[in-house]
Amino acid sequence: MSEARSIHIDYQVVSQLADLTKDDQSLLNQAIEASKLAYAPYSKFHVGCALRLANGKVINGSNQENAAYTVCQCAERGALGYASAKYPDVAVIEVAVYAQGASVTTPVATPCGVCRQALLEYADRFDQTMRIIAQCNNSSIYLFNSIRDLLPLGFSKNNLI
Ligand code: THU
Repeated sequence: MSEARSIHIDYQVVSQLADLTKDDQSLLNQAIEASKLAYAPYSKFHVGCALRLANGKVINGSNQENAAYTVCQCAERGALGYASAKYPDVAVIEVAVYAQGASVTTPVATPCGVCRQALLEYADRFDQTMRIIAQCNNSSIYLFNSIRDLLPLGFSKNNLI
């Protein structure tokens, strides 16, 4: 027997920063500022991330590249590592990611698969939904209600414990 199933996600697209709530504007602006600190001499794709923690703090990160490409670290995982090292008991409730790249032709750049997995782990760790805000090159802003929407059928701690 086979059964066709589908997965549906709801997300929002907002045309400009000014149309976001003040809190979202602030978080995205911090991701934009963080992208300016990227070390991305190889890809020239500058990514900034801002994590809003449950204690009100915001932690930033930017991508850090290496001539040995597999060592490159994405902005999101850099920020998560810092958050976990500094505030290990505090949830991340919202994530803004901004990407700036000269040769980008897509309308949005969402977190890569590895970062989705890392974000999901963090969300699960604190039982959070974790909103995601993503913008690329001043294009429209994409708002996702939960990291789980970006990783449907994802592998998580529920598979192990
Ligand atoms: N990158 C990020 O920082 N975050 C992502 O989610 C996607 C990719 C970085 C890694 C690398 O430095 C550059 O963008 C090109 O892949």
